[in-house]
Amino acid sequence: MSENGSAAKEHAGRVREMFGSIAKRYDLLNHLLSGNVDKRWRRIVAKRVREKLPSSSSRILDVACGTGDLSLTLFEITGAGVVGTDFCRPMLAIAAGKTSGRVRLIEGDALDLPFRDGTFDVVTIAFGLRNLANVESGLAELARVLKPGGWVAVLEFSRPANAMLRPLFNLYFRKLLPWMGGLISGSRSAYTYLPASVQKFPDQSQLSLLMEQSGLDQVGYENLTGGIAALHMGRRPG
Ligand SMILES: C[S@@+](CC[C@H](N)C(=O)[O-])C[C@H]1O[C@@H](n2cnc3c(N)ncnc32)[C@H](O)[C@@H]1O
Repeated sequence: MSENGSAAKEHAGRVREMFGSIAKRYDLLNHLLSGNVDKRWRRIVAKRVREKLPSSSSRILDVACGTGDLSLTLFEITGAGVVGTDFCRPMLAIAAGKTSGRVRLIEGDALDLPFRDGTFDVVTIAFGLRNLANVESGLAELARVLKPGGWVAVLEFSRPANAMLRPLFNLYFRKLLPWMGGLISGSRSAYTYLPASVQKFPDQSQLSLLMEQSGLDQVGYENLTGGIAALHMGRRPG
């Protein structure tokens, strides 16, 4: 295996283990640390996805679905068939309990999805792209499993657009959140990893560019809660 390949494998192993260790507290912490705003963000994603679906018999793939919150919201708001995939079994086990058969769950790696080319009408990934060993390869893989004319939706933390909001947000995200997250989950490292990974992740314009470079067109984004998060969408030409 190449040096890059083994570094990517090591990264994936660390990420899988980290999510496995916080799986049981993941939902509680998401809702608590965001003041439930995360639920609103997922509903916005599902509504935008509904606008892009060709019919109610469309198929959606939710990559890095974790405990299944977005998968379930997509199912409830769009009425489409939803498949959720993730490589962390403890996260998928919680998703299985919550979705009770309404979403099909399949264990899989976002960088090597277990689906044929052109299978889905929409592919979503929420707070997942940032965790991949390689963002560009991740985007290419999402585009691969999309039907021509289908849409990718990426929900991720981003950069607050408002200069006044930025220092406040940084204080919360880099200091308070790791402390609270560590206390409640028992894994401080998982919640110091969160702000560190967001800092390294491309901002709104850089991510738009990467999506275009991965062959998507009509790329655009919507800032959520002043740019704390952003929803990027792009279409596979065809
Ligand atoms: C922050 S959680 C997001 C979960 C969910 N999408 C949500 O909105 O709450 C990130 C998820 O990405 C998954 N993940 C990270 N890298 C992955 C990969 N290479 N393949 C599949 N899943 C991956 C983790 O296991 C974890 O469940």
